Amino acid sequence: MRSGEILRLTPQTPAEEDEVATKQQAQEATREQAKAADADKAKADSSEDGAGASGDSLSITDNRTGNSYELEITEGTVRAMDLRQIKVSEDDFGLMAYDPAFTNTASCRSAITYIDGEAGILQHRGIPVEQLAEHSSYLEVAYLVIFGQLPTKPQLERWTFDVTHHTFVHEDIKKFLEGFRHDAHPMGMLLASVGALSTFYPDAKQIDDPEERYMAAIRLIAKMPTLAAFAYRHSMGLPYFYPDNELSYSENFLSMLFKMENTYKPDPRLAKALDILFILHADHEQNCSTNAVRGVGSSQVDPYSAVAAGVAALYGPLHGGANEAVLRMLRRIETPDNIPDFLEGVKNRDEKLMGFGHRVYKNYDPRARIIKSHVDEVLAATGDNPLLDIAMELEKRALDDDYFTSRKLYPNVDFYSGLIYEALNIPTEMFTVIFAIPRTAGWVAQWLEMIDDPEQKIARPRQIYTGKRDEDYVAPWDRKGPEKITGPPARRPKRPRRGA
Ligand code: CMC
Repeated sequence: MRSGEILRLTPQTPAEEDEVATKQQAQEATREQAKAADADKAKADSSEDGAGASGDSLSITDNRTGNSYELEITEGTVRAMDLRQIKVSEDDFGLMAYDPAFTNTASCRSAITYIDGEAGILQHRGIPVEQLAEHSSYLEVAYLVIFGQLPTKPQLERWTFDVTHHTFVHEDIKKFLEGFRHDAHPMGMLLASVGALSTFYPDAKQIDDPEERYMAAIRLIAKMPTLAAFAYRHSMGLPYFYPDNELSYSENFLSMLFKMENTYKPDPRLAKALDILFILHADHEQNCSTNAVRGVGSSQVDPYSAVAAGVAALYGPLHGGANEAVLRMLRRIETPDNIPDFLEGVKNRDEKLMGFGHRVYKNYDPRARIIKSHVDEVLAATGDNPLLDIAMELEKRALDDDYFTSRKLYPNVDFYSGLIYEALNIPTEMFTVIFAIPRTAGWVAQWLEMIDDPEQKIARPRQIYTGKRDEDYVAPWDRKGPEKITGPPARRPKRPRRGA
């Protein structure tokens, strides 16, 4: 590979372009034929034995009308749109599924990440995360989740070269970051600056152009550590340090965070631990932030704006913000002696045991197990941390307690990751920012999969309307009611607030 050569997803010469166009047309024709054949088969199957080829079907009787329906079951699901035929009258809208928080609704078909929450299994493109954490690197895993397979040696070299050579950000981004208050939360700064990237790369709007998509993937993965490090340096009032293309992805991030003079050399043990954390956070199928990226991306907005939506979702304490909350909780507990009282408070629902529980895992989160096994190595390099003793004792007591085990509440990825970040000397406010860096690979992979999926449309859930209907407008002077503002958001602030 020549240095400076870009890994292209599109051809470079007109002859190559023609060749690829012919290939694409042939592939398109084959896909259309396969679709038509599938449709014919499904039709034939349903006329032979009811709903589906396999005979897997769901019989429903609508007790309002006495009518019976047969819905096809495929891949363990029924299609929500099949419910629409169930009506009480011709002008009835039809039956809908009600599923707040999508607890039992598949929003897409995806080939990126497999999770078996009961068994505690996590695989990317079929490869167990334990193997990736042991043998791979973050950039290789990013390639895996985005392209669908592990790269060959030359592919990995080109991918690494491309990412490494797009780590710099436009100088105007620095000016933009300088506009934030000195104590701005770095996650808010990251959110804004990722969104701002869309204004620096307006061609990314051409989401049907494979070359633009590739460049957006590279730029997002390459620039995220730079934006994160700049946000941190801003909050510390320190000068920004530019990326160093001689360093690995995680070394470069540590260098941009901590360099004060040109002598800074990242400890390889710490860079390795960070790289493993990056691998473990690369993707996690349809979680809150990925769903945000897919939902916003379904409007066909550019990928920077879609990924900014993911950063915003990750900011919340129930999602990526949990690692920050875990550290605050451990500090508050202060000593292992206070654990019983703390757990009583959790059981009385005064608060939550942060870093425990998961919507999908009803077993030990495999990522938490891997992280836990690396905490000691990191502390050997950085020195002991008394919070580790509190965390270990807290975990032990919670797992001995029926309140937690009966609800299948086990440590999740965030329970131990904060301890490693803290050992790396990273301030608590940066924890979620560091989660966002590797998750970018997953967001990009899921966004790419979504825009290529012929079944996807603009995401637009339905609602059950519960409000009033057909009310008349009343002029302000004729309205009755209290003088003060009432209703859910009405309480006026008692504490002094900053800002105008
Ligand atoms: N501490 C105490 N009780 C809990 C906890 C917890 N951390 N998590 C769930 N429960 C209880 C909950 O009160 C409920 O009990 P009951 O049935 O008696 O009302 C039961 O367990 C089921 O909980 P749920 O709220 O229905 O579960 P969910 O799937 O809606 O929530 C969760 C999943 C991750 C939001 C939740 O477990 C939680 O808030 N955990 C703490 C925050 C956290 O660690 N988040 C990181 C998640 S992993 C990384 C990521 O995805 O970003």
